[in-house]
Amino acid sequence: MSERHGRLFEQAADGIFTVDETGHFTSVNLIMERAMGHRIGALIGTHCCSLLDPDQQEITNRLFKGTMSGRRQRAEISFRDVAARSRIGSITSTPIVEHGRVTGALCIVRDVTRERRFAEELRQREKLAAVGQLVSGVAHELNNPLAGISAFAQLLEGAGPLNAEQRDAVDTIQMESKRAAKIVSSLLLFARQRQPERSSVDLNRVMDDTLALRRFVISTDQIQVVMKLEPDLPHTWADPFQLQQVLLNLLINAEQALRGKKGKRVITLRTQRKGERIVASVIDNGPGISEETLSRVFEPFFTTKAVGEGSGLGLAISHGIVRQHGGVLRAHSAPGGGATFEIDLPILVARDDSSQPALAGDAVEIPRQRRFLIVDHEPAMRQALQLHLRRTGCFADAVGDPSAALALLATRSYGAIFLDLQMADLAGESLFTELVEHDPDHAGRVVFATRDVESPPARKFLHGAGRPFVGKPFALATVAAMLTQTAMR
Ligand SMILES: Nc1ncnc2c1ncn2[C@@H]1O[C@H](COP(=O)(O)OP(=O)(O)OP(=O)(O)O)[C@@H](O)[C@H]1O
Ligand SMILES: [Mg+2]
Repeated sequence: MSERHGRLFEQAADGIFTVDETGHFTSVNLIMERAMGHRIGALIGTHCCSLLDPDQQEITNRLFKGTMSGRRQRAEISFRDVAARSRIGSITSTPIVEHGRVTGALCIVRDVTRERRFAEELRQREKLAAVGQLVSGVAHELNNPLAGISAFAQLLEGAGPLNAEQRDAVDTIQMESKRAAKIVSSLLLFARQRQPERSSVDLNRVMDDTLALRRFVISTDQIQVVMKLEPDLPHTWADPFQLQQVLLNLLINAEQALRGKKGKRVITLRTQRKGERIVASVIDNGPGISEETLSRVFEPFFTTKAVGEGSGLGLAISHGIVRQHGGVLRAHSAPGGGATFEIDLPILVARDDSSQPALAGDAVEIPRQRRFLIVDHEPAMRQALQLHLRRTGCFADAVGDPSAALALLATRSYGAIFLDLQMADLAGESLFTELVEHDPDHAGRVVFATRDVESPPARKFLHGAGRPFVGKPFALATVAAMLTQTAMR
């Protein structure tokens, strides 16, 4: 080989090697040496199939035989690199002809792992988009008949005295139509794949808030939660509702995985900064996931749970959300060793500064007109409203009981107070009465929310209080507008 050819051979970006007519290496370039993790000296003289897994040896043998019969061959093989990672190589093998006889083969191997994985991901995406369209059409069509079924069941219920059997039947219709409606709404969520509505988000906080939503179930299931949240985690520019939805899916999966487990049940919630990325993990010590299941967990409708318990959409939806955030959702598991789900997100900085001050919390002086207090015993409600207000550039403290509210009201002036009337023991009413007596300024800034505007006691109370009120469920924008208006006066 001339020196120039020698350099070409050594420095080529592809793996190049030659074998003799029996298939043993006669020369190997540097890339091959590095990829396989064997010294050139150790490779020369060994059989080219000996480095491959048995199922790949057959492909290579066929390729070799074809080449020896004088034809150029091409094939794809999978192999393990020096770090034991599985890779895909595309091999072209050309006969070496000397004195009119094939004496060996010249092979060029190109690592096509990235291209193949990308193509696979693209195929998955197309599949998801097609399924999404179909599902959204079907789900919309189902909504109307479902609403009809539920309405008529309600009519039946009120139609007159029912015997026990009839009442059971009506209850079952109601329950099952509710279950179907829930499935339909998660199908729509899956199909909609809406663009994220971003604001600056503290992922530690989203972790905390998500856990708060499941605290009750987690403690009744006797699961221990270990929090490993990185202090000073940078904020990122993301949709907090969507991220919460992802974390909630992961958390519920972890709870479900631990249900049959004997002995200690642990869920670990972890956040870490890794360079310019944030990784949030949900880890359980449940049964783990077999390799076969692991390869399918992100597929829509893939579930190993009983009918009625899982629809197989949780991870498919979560995967889509994380991807829309420019991130990756990963699953690792070993059977018997629990499961780890990782949300890996880029740290993004807000492009629009107008949404910033609200998130600075106490570090920045918030004018009273933009500082609100939410008092509601429903954590989800508090959180939704709080996040919504923040998005509009306001700041909101949120508490679940009147004593916490009184403590805050004593230290701060709020522009408006959102007060839930349906707290246990008429707590909402007593808090208001207390304010009327001792803090009339704040009392004059209350906006009530109530589940039953029509009930006579609630009507009487609201009439007497003379404060604005809104019926639950409400549009967040309506409540935000009411609070802002109240704060402006
Ligand atoms: N933490 C986990 N441990 C073991 N298996 C898991 C875990 N998380 C997910 N899986 C497996 O992945 C499958 C798909 O999960 P996914 O959340 O998409 O659907 P699901 O939980 O079955 O139903 P849905 O979330 O729609 O109610 C599950 O059925 C289960 O087999
Ligand atoms: Mg799930």
